[in-house]
Amino acid sequence: MARRIGVLTSGGDAPGMNAAIRGVVRAVSAGSGEVIGIRRGFCGLIDGSLEGLGPRDVANILQRGGSILDTSREPRFHDPAQRHKAIETLERERLDALIVIGGNGTQRGALLIQQEWQGAVLGVASTIDNDLGGTDTSIGFDTACNTALEAIDRIRDTAHSLDRLFFIEVMGRRAGFIALEVAVGGGAEAVLLPEVELDTEWLVNVIRSNHERGKVSCIVVVAEGAHPGGARGLLLEIEAPLAHLGLPGSADARVTILGHIQRGGNPTVRDRVLASRLSTFAARAALEGKRGLLFGVRGNTVCETPFATALAEEKLIDRTLLDLVNELAG
Ligand code: F6P
Repeated sequence: MARRIGVLTSGGDAPGMNAAIRGVVRAVSAGSGEVIGIRRGFCGLIDGSLEGLGPRDVANILQRGGSILDTSREPRFHDPAQRHKAIETLERERLDALIVIGGNGTQRGALLIQQEWQGAVLGVASTIDNDLGGTDTSIGFDTACNTALEAIDRIRDTAHSLDRLFFIEVMGRRAGFIALEVAVGGGAEAVLLPEVELDTEWLVNVIRSNHERGKVSCIVVVAEGAHPGGARGLLLEIEAPLAHLGLPGSADARVTILGHIQRGGNPTVRDRVLASRLSTFAARAALEGKRGLLFGVRGNTVCETPFATALAEEKLIDRTLLDLVNELAG
């Protein structure tokens, strides 16, 4: 039975990571195990930066964004010699299991350690992008969407008052989950996603037809990966055909890039509950000696999926939501 369990957060921070750390510490402690926190993700594993975490050390963090353990994007992890150093740390610290909280890149790292280390590695799905397989939704996604939505609502006030066209860029280099969700929630006139081929002629037509139907403001939500230059690049590309239309507000269009405000902040209740559930299941699984599994949620049920299966899953956007944006822009 696993007794000494390591925990780390890695990759882009996501609101709810602290709730997940708390869940691991409290659930492992309840099962008479011991938790060792690893600082700055895989970086701390390579460099041996660790600290014991007891139930009182995770007091008052449930509601905080970021990660008390900090996080990193660690390129050294692609080097087998560096991974060997990480595994030496796990051995030296006599860890039986490691719980890894993060998104796609992080869980790929977790799979590599699981293949090279005899201890147990378990994953907790956490990324604002929600582009990780093995789960319907990941920790941080709901908060990021709510943060972006609040900003979009505010911009709508200005767009409406000034009869102006706005392009709002949200996070998502490879995935349009945030963009799609906030486009529906924010009543966007159009949404552009990396998963859907860009058709600038269609977009200019949408903008023109909005105006012809008497709509006062127009908001186009752009996932950062929908155009190589993001929302700015998109506007540059369609500036001339837009100006040609001669519509009020269109020649004077604005771009707002929401950027990293989407990553921080207090997690929503949904993210706190999700983080608490997934981390507790992962902690119990570690105590039971399970290995190589990613914890996520399907419907309202917590599920465990082998790393390789989860990472091979192609997570698809819901095309019916895309239709909804176009239909409700009416
Ligand atoms: O964590 C995912 C993500 O927020 C992406 O949506 C975004 O493209 C990327 O991270 C930004 O990464 P960084 O903070 O390293 O610039």
